[in-house]
Amino acid sequence: DVLSLSTHFKQVHRQYSPKHALGDATTSPAVGKHEGGHLFPQSLRDRSIALIFSKRSTRTRVSSETAVAALGGHNLFLGSSDIQLGVNESLYDTSKIVSSMCDGIIARVNGHDEVELLAKTADVPVINALSDRYHPMQILADLQTMTEDAVLSTKTGAAASTAMGPVGALQGLKVAWVGDSNNILADMLVSYPRLGIDLAVAAPKGYERDEIVWGEMEDGLRSTSTPWRKGSVSWTTDPKEALKDADVVVTDTWISMGEESSKEQRLRDFAGFQVTEALAKAGGAKPDWRFMHCLPRKANEVDDEVFYGPRSIVFPEGENRRWTTQALADMIFGRWKL
Ligand code: CP
Ligand code: NVA
Repeated sequence: DVLSLSTHFKQVHRQYSPKHALGDATTSPAVGKHEGGHLFPQSLRDRSIALIFSKRSTRTRVSSETAVAALGGHNLFLGSSDIQLGVNESLYDTSKIVSSMCDGIIARVNGHDEVELLAKTADVPVINALSDRYHPMQILADLQTMTEDAVLSTKTGAAASTAMGPVGALQGLKVAWVGDSNNILADMLVSYPRLGIDLAVAAPKGYERDEIVWGEMEDGLRSTSTPWRKGSVSWTTDPKEALKDADVVVTDTWISMGEESSKEQRLRDFAGFQVTEALAKAGGAKPDWRFMHCLPRKANEVDDEVFYGPRSIVFPEGENRRWTTQALADMIFGRWKL
């Protein structure tokens, strides 16, 4: 599974990269295991991956480019000002041309229909690198980060982990989302309850649930039969209510890319939603609660004390974007038969 592979890549890198050098790279038997003495399988050798990005990015771009390169592949970063898309050319035509020359596409788009059109019309696999509805790559990194956290891993039902893979260790965890009803939350909704994680959402009045996402969550819960207990989902406009007994508190910017024109209104609407020690205490979060955020972060949604404090696991979460992306690229682009 993707998280086991991601963990494996991370461990290999930790052991042998000069940055983290712990062992003797010259004598280790694992070095040179892959053809040409590479640290990782060269599953993307002779393959080119197109990164079609219509919005800016730090983590997704850097993790995708480094992951593809580490697997021996070639990246083409195609930002909005690099290609004809959107100015002189349609998405359909772009999809046909790019996929006739490249072996995979990682796409960051505006509307979710755009990534669906790419997936339908491209002749190669397409990975969604963020749309206005979903951001699945982020949630893989978040899951890995929670399984690795020492505090969280002491609380959970490790017994389930054999059947479920590494995420079994997250059974029964309570995650509170305090923030916007956005693309990050959408992926938490469609995945966490299926994995046995209880999810409590607090979003302000007027930032209601996305009915398409909600329907996909319900379909997923109905159609996945699991030997483990599925998680619950609750929704409130009161952050304190969602924070009760939370093991993990998660938030994101109140102003996602493309929503800049409603910034002032949003800042007013989200008053009282900033994640702080005081709010978590007032809501009754567990004493050792952890904090996650996909980044980029603004101080509106979380103060410095929490964001840079000992509860925060945001930087391991950011780094895990690399390893989960490398696992995805290997599994999707590397094993796809050309
Ligand atoms: N979390 C995330 O996707 O960050 P970027 O927008 O920097 O890629
Ligand atoms: N919700 C944010 C996530 C950025 C990674 C956005 O869509 O801008």
